[in-house]
Amino acid sequence: MAMALTVWLLLLSSLFLLPIYVLAQTNGSVAVGASLSAAGNSSWISPSGDFAFGFRQLENNDLFLLSIWFAKIPDRTIVWYANGDKPAPKGSTVNLTANSGLVLTSPQGDELWKSNQSIAGVVAHGLMNDKGNFVLEDNKSAKLWETFKNPTDTMLPGQIMERGGKLSSRNSETDYSRGRFQLDFQVDGNLVFSAKKPFYSTATTTGTVPGSEGLRLVFNDSGNFYILRVNGGHFIFTGEERAARDYYLRTTLSFDGVLAQYFLPKTSVGNASWAPLWSEPPNICQKINVNSGPGICGYNSICILQADKRPTCECPTGYSLLDPNDPYGSCYPDSKLGCENELNYTKDLYNVEVLANTDWLTSSYVQLNASTADTCSQSCLEDCLCAVAVYSNDTCWKKKFPLSYGREDSTLNSKTFIKFRNDNSTRQVPDDKKSRTTWVHVGSVLLGTSVFVNFILGAAVICLGFFLIFQKKHARFTQNDLDTNLRSFSHKELKEATNGFNEELGKGAFGVVYKGIIQIGSGVQVAVKKLNCVNVQDGEKEFKTELKIIGQTHHKNLVRLVGYCDEGQERLLVYEFLSNGTLASFLFGDEKPSWRQRMEIADGVAKGLLYLHEECSSQIIHCDIKPQNILLDDHYNARISDFGLAKLLMMDQSRTHTAIRGTKGYVAPEWFNSMAITAKVDVYSFGVVLLEIICCRRSVDMENNCEEKAILIDWVYDCYRDGALDAVLDHEVDALDDKTELEKTAMIALWCIQEDPSLRPSMRKVVQMLEGVVEVDVPPCPSPYTRGG
Ligand SMILES: *[C@@H]1O[C@H](CO)[C@@H](O)[C@H](O)[C@H]1NC(C)=O
Ligand SMILES: *[C@@H]1O[C@H](CO)[C@@H](O)[C@H](O)[C@H]1NC(C)=O
Ligand SMILES: *[C@@H]1O[C@H](CO)[C@@H](O)[C@H](O)[C@H]1NC(C)=O
Ligand SMILES: *[C@@H]1O[C@H](CO)[C@@H](O)[C@H](O)[C@H]1NC(C)=O
Ligand SMILES: *[C@@H]1O[C@H](CO)[C@@H](O)[C@H](O)[C@H]1NC(C)=O
Ligand SMILES: *[C@@H]1O[C@H](CO)[C@@H](O)[C@H](O)[C@H]1NC(C)=O
Ligand SMILES: *[C@@H]1O[C@H](CO)[C@@H](O)[C@H](O)[C@H]1NC(C)=O
Ligand SMILES: *[C@@H]1O[C@H](CO)[C@@H](O)[C@H](O)[C@H]1NC(C)=O
Ligand SMILES: *[C@@H]1O[C@H](CO)[C@@H](O)[C@H](O)[C@H]1NC(C)=O
Ligand SMILES: *[C@@H]1O[C@H](CO)[C@@H](O)[C@H](O)[C@H]1NC(C)=O
Ligand SMILES: *[C@@H]1O[C@H](CO)[C@@H](O)[C@H](O)[C@H]1NC(C)=O
Repeated sequence: MAMALTVWLLLLSSLFLLPIYVLAQTNGSVAVGASLSAAGNSSWISPSGDFAFGFRQLENNDLFLLSIWFAKIPDRTIVWYANGDKPAPKGSTVNLTANSGLVLTSPQGDELWKSNQSIAGVVAHGLMNDKGNFVLEDNKSAKLWETFKNPTDTMLPGQIMERGGKLSSRNSETDYSRGRFQLDFQVDGNLVFSAKKPFYSTATTTGTVPGSEGLRLVFNDSGNFYILRVNGGHFIFTGEERAARDYYLRTTLSFDGVLAQYFLPKTSVGNASWAPLWSEPPNICQKINVNSGPGICGYNSICILQADKRPTCECPTGYSLLDPNDPYGSCYPDSKLGCENELNYTKDLYNVEVLANTDWLTSSYVQLNASTADTCSQSCLEDCLCAVAVYSNDTCWKKKFPLSYGREDSTLNSKTFIKFRNDNSTRQVPDDKKSRTTWVHVGSVLLGTSVFVNFILGAAVICLGFFLIFQKKHARFTQNDLDTNLRSFSHKELKEATNGFNEELGKGAFGVVYKGIIQIGSGVQVAVKKLNCVNVQDGEKEFKTELKIIGQTHHKNLVRLVGYCDEGQERLLVYEFLSNGTLASFLFGDEKPSWRQRMEIADGVAKGLLYLHEECSSQIIHCDIKPQNILLDDHYNARISDFGLAKLLMMDQSRTHTAIRGTKGYVAPEWFNSMAITAKVDVYSFGVVLLEIICCRRSVDMENNCEEKAILIDWVYDCYRDGALDAVLDHEVDALDDKTELEKTAMIALWCIQEDPSLRPSMRKVVQMLEGVVEVDVPPCPSPYTRGG
């Protein structure tokens, strides 16, 4: 009894929701000259009352959408709209005119939209029919224009799409402007899903057999949605059958990228809501397109498929939405995670939250076999690089930022450990809009790749490990064998030589460099480097020891150290001055050097590094190879500078806990995952520099390049894999004369940037490969730990 009453009340209330003049409506016909005004609830209703054409007020504002909706369903689901990109201000009118069809005009008289007639003719009347189609007809009932031929994001039973037609998603549930996704029924008969930002693109290929091509996309009155083939066959989107007689049906490309057919029983519109019969893709959370952004949800977010086959996105514990107004956007960790200060890293500061059946598809960097759940979470806690660990089937996958393609999936049978800081001391809340948009901008480009994200989170490299490894090795040098040709300068001398440290040549991690002239005979130009914050007290002996090692190096591809100053707090190094500046300004300037010149420079850098690694009295690892540290002499020979300094300064700085920062874009991955630091870090950096030399562009370039090209190492590998290396040269004619040399050089570089240090060649092998003495094998993908690709 009570139930029956409720039903009645519901029916009653749903009746009241309908505009009163539904009852007055007769046959859906609209005369020329009729108009509607964007103010109240004005509309033209179909004869059955199922559909209405008119203005709908947008949420939270005074703007209106000219649209068609299900008039008997309480939420009045919109199935077509005219002016999504240009909502109409209050007081706008739509007029049915004989010569221009429907015309939407703002109160100021601006034309906001009009129906484009596909067939020329004079409109006799409009008709809102019971299928949901608004038609303009001439006096012989020929259709001049109809909404069914100009769909937006929805198709209805009875609607047919010819080749060349398309559906476009709206921007969000309530924002009807053009969104990210599109469904194209191409002229070749293929139905293709695509997204504005590369997220996915799939074709429902209708077959290669002649006659099997798609002819039209049909939503028939029985509720079947299919591609009709040229030969009469069908490609049917499966699902239970629901007849349009008994159900309201619609097929909509929703703003989140899912094409789905929904149904609602006509008998219970009051309390039922739209339910899906089928969806394409069946599970959008599993749709991935590696190297094309973060997936349907933003970075570090988790995609969860709802019962209606639509995704929602959730930030994991300890993470928040980057933009609170964009629930499908990226999440950022509430407190700092990562290797920013490895010296202070201790697992006690961190904890893990356990989630079931959650995974991020492409962010793994280490796979631990024969693991237990406990060793998996411990291993993540102990590793500053690890952001989450996913344990499944005795295997532990450690994942680093950015976490992309996150999803929840009950079939995964996995345990996920999400790391978070258990104190709030480093809570990082983007405080203003500006920092947030920067994050998004940088994030959207950089987060897409594996290695570089560490820099976004402010990761810096600390050479402590390196220091410890090499301290022992060098202990055999004592003060007694310091026979050297280095000259010792007084601070006063250098102050005079540089005219009071007047002309700055450059600034680096180790200090500022000034130009000077010292009087050795006729006066020689020098570069004087003032070292940063050197702790003098105990460092004296080591400083001299390291200086001797540097001083003993002699190679045509190294910048020569002339002398030093070691006086009180002041430590300065005096180098020969090189006239042609840095490789960076040479490569990235307006005038591009020739291919031949560039290859000679590459060869010189390789030989200089080979000498440092294998041929000088004791191995020197540079730690900071980059084009800014490679100088060019009068004859454009490459000369490596700053070698030996990483060690020299670490020695002192390890005591003051000051981080030496590696240079963004050039640093080998082992700096971040507590692997031993070997000469292979220089090989990695050399590989990046070699790619820059090949392409004459910076390794990270967000300003001038689209997303796929922003990270040089990824882009070059993609081009190489796809056999399209020409693209990296930017149509440089000169270099293209010899494509085999381009390919060979790129392959060498790809070997050097292997994430696994043991796969990288030694500098000796690199020199041999560059000179053509040994063959270059096909390089593997540099980042094989990236799962899912
Ligand atoms: C619809 O009704 C109007 C009058 O209300 C009439 O003029 C018109 O001819 C009718 N149209 C059709 C198609 O029956
Ligand atoms: C329009 O109709 C809706 C639902 O029927 C109602 O909530 C709203 O108040 C109406 N607006 C005006 C201006 O009448
Ligand atoms: C549209 O119709 C309204 C009301 O009938 C009228 O005031 C207005 O001038 C018409 N606008 C145009 C552009 O015909
Ligand atoms: C109408 O057609 C013109 C040219 O054919 C096109 O530029 C315009 O965008 C069309 N307008 C609409 C609303 O489709
Ligand atoms: C239909 O319209 C055409 C052109 O507008 C006109 O020449 C013709 O007389 C009209 N026919 C009828 C039956 O009104
Ligand atoms: C709709 O298509 C299905 C599948 O091709 C077919 O069985 C059915 O008869 C069609 N219904 C109508 C009304 O054309
Ligand atoms: C609508 O509500 C009634 C009463 O609560 C219920 O019996 C019926 O199953 C509901 N219909 C649907 C489709 O949920
Ligand atoms: C690291 O630890 C040292 C001493 O324990 C402290 O002075 C320094 O501020 C810490 N650095 C960070 C970034 O927490
Ligand atoms: C774990 O096994 C995989 C595949 O068998 C292998 O590629 C990987 O190197 C192993 N991981 C470790 C840490 O041994
Ligand atoms: C679990 O691992 C075993 C052996 O490595 C493999 O044969 C099996 O297919 C894996 N099971 C799942 C669900 O991945
Ligand atoms: C950290 O901050 C969160 C939210 O602000 C709070 O709930 C929690 O108690 C804090 N934890 C500590 C250890 O201060």
